[in-house]
Amino acid sequence: MLAIGHCTLEAQVVDITTLDVGAIVNAANTSLLGGGGVDGAIHRAAGRELLRECETLNGCATGDAKITRGYKLPARHVIHAVGPVWHGGGRGEAELLASCYRRSLELAQHAHLKSIAFPAISCGVYHYPPDDAVHIAVSTVIDTLPHARGIERVIFACFDDQMFRRYEAKFKAELEAKRKS
Ligand code: AR6
Repeated sequence: MLAIGHCTLEAQVVDITTLDVGAIVNAANTSLLGGGGVDGAIHRAAGRELLRECETLNGCATGDAKITRGYKLPARHVIHAVGPVWHGGGRGEAELLASCYRRSLELAQHAHLKSIAFPAISCGVYHYPPDDAVHIAVSTVIDTLPHARGIERVIFACFDDQMFRRYEAKFKAELEAKRKS
């Protein structure tokens, strides 16, 4: 757990579809029409109506995000972010991944939400190296929070313990950096 101003950041080993928050973020693809991994799980749990709303959105560019309602999910909204496919790091992947976190927080702030949960975007089928992805996720959230003052709680939902430990290590590093500054 890490407190940043008015907001707490925490990692949890949890199925993101079970979280009762303002928005859960989906690791989507540019079609926004569903897929495997966390995307498939979110669409299954939210029901057909989510797909119907997604069909009206005309897709989404990589690095960007779009918001829908949550339908049958406990979460009120889904923010569909499109992470980059990992191609070795030379195709702007880091900036595109950071942009997913920034845009998601902007949309949440705009919708007056207080809590948001992220999966490890791009860390599954898109093969982003997980340590680098976690570093970008946490650093970008911390840097964006001053522009998203309504957000009080950020959860990083991890599918397994190994991913959870990456966030915990990053939080620890952030705390140490804060202490030294
Ligand atoms: N809750 C939390 N995390 C999960 C869950 C869940 N229910 N399910 C999987 N994860 P991925 P990507 C973790 O592949 O790499 C889809 O087909 C998973 O262990 O879902 O961004 C889309 O349509 C991993 O750490 O997303 C796209 O085509 C992380 O979520 C493509 O996959 C992300 O894995 C996007 O690939």
